[in-house]
Amino acid sequence: MNIPHIDYFGLKDEPFSTSPNPRFLYISPTHNIALEKTKWTIAARRGLAICFGVPGTGKTTLVRDLATRLEDDTTVSYVAITNPNFPTANQLLRAIIQEFEVGKTSKNYLELLNIFKEYLAEQAIKQNKNLVLIIDEAQTLKPPLLEMLRQLMNYESNDQKFLQVVLFAQEDFRKRLQHPRYTNLVNRVAMSSSIEPLSLSQTAAMLKYRWMIAGGQETTFPFTDDAIEQLFTYSKGIPRTQIILADNALLAAYLLQLRTVSADLIHQVVKDRGLPDAQPEPEPQSIKRNVRSEGGKTI
Ligand SMILES: Nc1ncnc2c1ncn2[C@@H]1O[C@H](COP(=O)(O)OP(=O)(O)OP(=O)(O)O)[C@@H](O)[C@H]1O
Ligand SMILES: [Mg+2]
Repeated sequence: MNIPHIDYFGLKDEPFSTSPNPRFLYISPTHNIALEKTKWTIAARRGLAICFGVPGTGKTTLVRDLATRLEDDTTVSYVAITNPNFPTANQLLRAIIQEFEVGKTSKNYLELLNIFKEYLAEQAIKQNKNLVLIIDEAQTLKPPLLEMLRQLMNYESNDQKFLQVVLFAQEDFRKRLQHPRYTNLVNRVAMSSSIEPLSLSQTAAMLKYRWMIAGGQETTFPFTDDAIEQLFTYSKGIPRTQIILADNALLAAYLLQLRTVSADLIHQVVKDRGLPDAQPEPEPQSIKRNVRSEGGKTI
């Protein structure tokens, strides 16, 4: 189905859809640092990397971007869990073992840990595989699940960790980790990074970037400087809020048969729809992976 305002502005795709599509990710300096630190932790097999950010700053989109990059690396097998809110550590471990296609199982939790430990050692030492576990929404992990992840990170040789764990979490997780019960986990963090809200100039760059990716031209970019300034102010630099308002403003411009989006139009949109909630609905449980079985199959 054609979307009228997309055609009106000469675009091929929706520029301001809220789905976490990595194709539309504008890599700000803090996104870039988070990505580089994470890639380094994985490549150097250093164990644990954590990336923090307030809601709507692009963590889930960055998870997908990272997964796409790891897809191209034949030495890496990764599993990405986007909603790790499992009731017990046993259930999370079972999901991890299943997704890595370990091929063995046990009803007993300690045996299950041993099975995974043997698998990790075999993959890392004999197959020289770099196994990566990416967890989004890590702030929802219950204490026993974090303790289990810490245990998994104990498996190592003199020069490498057998499992690299990358956690993406909202800022409140940082405070939670200050509790003494997490000291052992925190001590294992090789790299920690923070995705910051966008500045005014980064807001303009992000909106333009998405416009161009959607098939737009520089000359048809409709937002005036004043409109961008208002988007920045209303959103406090949060990209999710910016794109929701931008999307509404674009539709409003089409309905009024305007080619530009002014500051007044942004005020009108905020008046009509109110400011969007920074926090979206939780995502359904979903797991993505690229565990290659011996024939080199990618799943
Ligand atoms: N740097 C960016 N460039 C382009 N779009 C972005 C950027 N950051 C976020 N977005 C967009 O904002 C929306 C929200 O991003 P995302 O879901 O990745 O945020 P999040 O940090 O995971 O939020 P939450 O903490 O609520 O899970 C998505 O549509 C995403 O495409
Ligand atoms: Mg998210």
